Amino acid sequence: MKVLVTGANGQLGRHMRLLVEGNAPDAVAPSTQHEYHFTDIEELDITRRDAVFNYVLRQGITLVVNCAAYTNVDRAEEEESVADMVNHLAVRHLADAMKVNGGTLIHVSTDYVFGGGMHNRPCAEDAAVNPTGAYGRTKLAGERAIGEVGCHHLILRTAWLYSEFGNNFVKTMLRIMSQRECCQVVFDQVGTPTYAGDLARAIFDIVEHERFRGNEGVYHFSNEGVCSWFDFAKEIARQSGITSCNIAPCHSNEFPSKVDRPPFSVLDKSKFKRTFGTTIPYWTDSLAVCLSNLQQDNQTTR
Ligand SMILES: NC(=O)c1ccc[n+]([C@@H]2O[C@H](COP(=O)([O-])OP(=O)(O)OC[C@H]3O[C@@H](n4cnc5c(N)ncnc54)[C@H](OP(=O)(O)O)[C@@H]3O)[C@@H](O)[C@H]2O)c1
Repeated sequence: MKVLVTGANGQLGRHMRLLVEGNAPDAVAPSTQHEYHFTDIEELDITRRDAVFNYVLRQGITLVVNCAAYTNVDRAEEEESVADMVNHLAVRHLADAMKVNGGTLIHVSTDYVFGGGMHNRPCAEDAAVNPTGAYGRTKLAGERAIGEVGCHHLILRTAWLYSEFGNNFVKTMLRIMSQRECCQVVFDQVGTPTYAGDLARAIFDIVEHERFRGNEGVYHFSNEGVCSWFDFAKEIARQSGITSCNIAPCHSNEFPSKVDRPPFSVLDKSKFKRTFGTTIPYWTDSLAVCLSNLQQDNQTTR
């Protein structure tokens, strides 16, 4: 099977590549039985419909793992049409291409499809969607486009993604905590961090064993457990041995933002675990893996 991984230079895409190439940080080097193609915007701009069709049909791709996205939540408010091109219209191109050749699209989506409401229970896949910002709206439109096209598909919604690569909360907090004596972090937004390495491994297993067959639909995936951003920051400091920065809790309204972030975005992963038999690591254990890799390679700037 020929597999295309788009957005291969992003957090999730980089981890997919590490796994396929046998360079995963946890040194469990799986061997692949499929042919993987990794592309990012330079090799394949997924907003270009003709380029998507050319690539997929010429290379005989029958499975796409779409890790490409417009992920800047704040900037999306100012350029929703650009975000929409990547998160919605391009997803339709990928879905159309898979429809034409009978392939499958594994698409990654987000907790931002859920809105503001004061939930206090983990969100199941069929919970009412109600995005409050442009990023969430465009991601939801991408999900719906897949349904409209009707290609074989899996939609994996995740949340609070971090990794050794790119920009994310872990790397930002490490930088801030090393530079300042104090900082404030919101405690009234609750969710579950997701290590991109864990999500990549879950996707890799689904692809390798072709478990997407007969299991189409929407799934939720994050690490196990629940915390606030404040708890997350405290744990980053604790595990990194940083004591020089006092981390204080604050309310979201002390950090005015263009976007209302979901106050409770804990995803219910029962369906994913039941369907794919996956054991998902607890969030603090995965954080330890990421921090150890960052420390080992001193890669906080990569
Ligand atoms: N990050 C989070 O906290 C989070 C939370 C929930 C869900 N998700 C979802 O998880 C998935 C993976 O997120 P991530 O954090 O790995 O994203 P990321 O690090 O931002 O990576 C996305 C990649 O897609 C590329 N890309 C952008 N436009 C493209 C285009 N037109 N054609 C091809 N590639 C393009 C980006 O390139 P440039 O960098 O050059 O733009 C980047 O390399 C996304 O679907 C995202 O919506 C993320």
